[in-house]
Amino acid sequence: MNENNFLDLISSRHSVRAFKETPISEDKINALIKASTKGPSSGNLQSYQIFIIKDTEKEKLVEAAHGQGYINEAPLVMVFCADPKKCSIDYGLRGEELFCIQDATISCAYTQIAAHSLGLSSVWIGSFDEDKVSQILQLRDNLKPIAILPIGISNETPEITSRRPIDEIVHEF
Ligand SMILES: Cc1cc2nc3c(=O)[nH]c(=O)nc-3n(C[C@H](O)[C@H](O)[C@H](O)COP(=O)(O)O)c2cc1C
Repeated sequence: MNENNFLDLISSRHSVRAFKETPISEDKINALIKASTKGPSSGNLQSYQIFIIKDTEKEKLVEAAHGQGYINEAPLVMVFCADPKKCSIDYGLRGEELFCIQDATISCAYTQIAAHSLGLSSVWIGSFDEDKVSQILQLRDNLKPIAILPIGISNETPEITSRRPIDEIVHEF
């Protein structure tokens, strides 16, 4: 891919919080699932688990996410969970407390960009009751939910968000 195309792609993604009912094709779902595993991960362990939520559990997730109803509108919802146990075997406390969370985060970020490349929209949801999400998904082995990603065809014109000035964030030595 032309590098400018990729930079345009990441610059044109914006969060969408209203979705059409139109289902996502199985081909696109499979492409997203593949993309979700393509990122780097600590020791290539891929210390994360991903849950695909299509039906009734979506309503429960809305409640766990403090009423963010767009979760229920989206035809596809993916929940990204860190796997501290898996990561701690090789990386001890740093794996348990940090690397697995980074692994799951990267996986979600890749999926969000991949969705945009396929003409789909999404919003990263991090505001939720972790215990409730764990209960809904019947999480075992200390899996820690990191992000909920509703994905679908946009039913709104997204807000074009701005970014802080680069010099507030990037520092040269
Ligand atoms: C860690 C994290 C948590 C977020 N949690 C929520 C959330 O719970 N609900 C929501 O509507 N948006 C949430 N967002 C989306 C941000 O509000 C959004 O990405 C940000 O305002 C920038 O807008 P953009 O995605 O359109 O560039 C979250 C984003 C991140 C990275």
